[in-house]
Amino acid sequence: MKVSVIGAGNVGATVADAIAQTQAANVVVLLDIKENFAEGKALDIWETASIRMSDTRVIGVTNDYEKTAGSDIVVITSGIPRRPGMSRDDLISTNAKIVKAVTEQVIAVSPEAIIIVVANPLDVMSYTAFLAAKKASNKVFGMAGILDTARYRSFLAETLDVSPKDIQALLMGGHGDTMVPLPRYTTVAGIPVTQLIDKEKLDAIIERTKKGGGEIVKLLGTSAWYAPGTAAAQMVEAIARDQKRIFPVCTMLNGEYGLENIYLGVPVKLGKNGIEEIIEIELNKEERAMLDKSAKSVREVMNTLDDMKLFD
Ligand code: NAI
Ligand code: 2OP
Repeated sequence: MKVSVIGAGNVGATVADAIAQTQAANVVVLLDIKENFAEGKALDIWETASIRMSDTRVIGVTNDYEKTAGSDIVVITSGIPRRPGMSRDDLISTNAKIVKAVTEQVIAVSPEAIIIVVANPLDVMSYTAFLAAKKASNKVFGMAGILDTARYRSFLAETLDVSPKDIQALLMGGHGDTMVPLPRYTTVAGIPVTQLIDKEKLDAIIERTKKGGGEIVKLLGTSAWYAPGTAAAQMVEAIARDQKRIFPVCTMLNGEYGLENIYLGVPVKLGKNGIEEIIEIELNKEERAMLDKSAKSVREVMNTLDDMKLFD
C-alpha cells in the first residue's frame, strides 16, 4: 500500500505521521513545493519508526511527482489555510488553482489512485479535484465530516463527563457554519443523547461545533492540524484495510437526498473501493431544511468556482 500526501504543511505532515503510527501503508511519500521542506518533515517522522515500532517508510520530495507514481491513495492538503478574519470560502481563488494543478499531476502518474481532498473550501475543492481527475466520484472525495463529528463528540464528552469513545454521532452537510449536527442520531453507549443533556446545553455544543474551526483559528492564528490530520489518516486506514467503516464523508450526490451534482457531507461506507455506498438516512422536516440550507451555501461557492473558468 503506497500513500502520497501532497502538501507537507501542518495538516499534511500530521497525516503522514498518523499513517506511520497506524502502519496502514508500507510507504508514505510526502510532497511539497517548498525546497527540502517535505524531506525534513518526512525524515523527522521516519526517525520515530524504531521508537514506535513502525515499518512504514516515510519519504519526502520537492515537487517530484515521479516519486508518487503508482500510489493507491493520495491525500491533497496543499493549499493556504485561513487566518483570523477569513472564512474557508475566502481561500477559493488560490486553492482551486492549486488543487486542480496538483490533481492533474497526481493522476498522470497514479491513474488508479483514490483521492482524499483536505484543502478548503472543502466541498468545492473536492468537486474541483473530481473535475480535474476525470474519474468516478466514488474515488474522489473529501475529509470534513470525521473532523466536525469528532469536535462535536469531544464537546459532548467534556460536558457529560464521559469517555469520547462512547459517543456515537452523525453530522451532515457542508464543511462550514451551515453544517448539520444531528442530535437524533447521537447516542452515548446507545442511550439517546437527548435523555442525558438539556436542550440549552446541547444547542450550545452544536453552535460551538459549527464554529469549531474558527475557534482554533482565533487561538492559533492559523487553522487546526492534529484533529484534521488524524481524521484524514483514519479515512486512509479504512480504505487500505478495507474496513467498511461508516463515516460522514464529502461526496458527490447524484440524486441521493434529492440533490444532484454537488459535493456534500453524508454518511458513507468506506472500503478498498473508496466510497462503496452512500447511506440515505431518514431526516425530519427541520433536519431536511438545514441540509438544504447547507447545500445552498455550498452551491454559492460552486458558482465562484464556475466564475473562475478553470475547466472551460
Ligand atoms: P500549511 O500552510 O501548513 O500547509 C500547506 C502546504 O501546502 C505548504 O507547505 C505549501 O508549501 C504546500 N503547497 C502549496 N501549494 C502547493 C503545491 N502546488 N504543491 C504542493 N504543495 C503545495 O496549511 P495547513 O494548515 O496544512 O492546511 C492545508 C489546507 O487544509 C488548507 O487549505 C486548510 O484550510 C485545509 N484544512 C482543511 C480541513 C478540513 O477539515 N477539510 C481542516 C484543516 C485544514
Ligand atoms: C477546520 O475546520 C479550517 O477547515 C478547517 O479546522
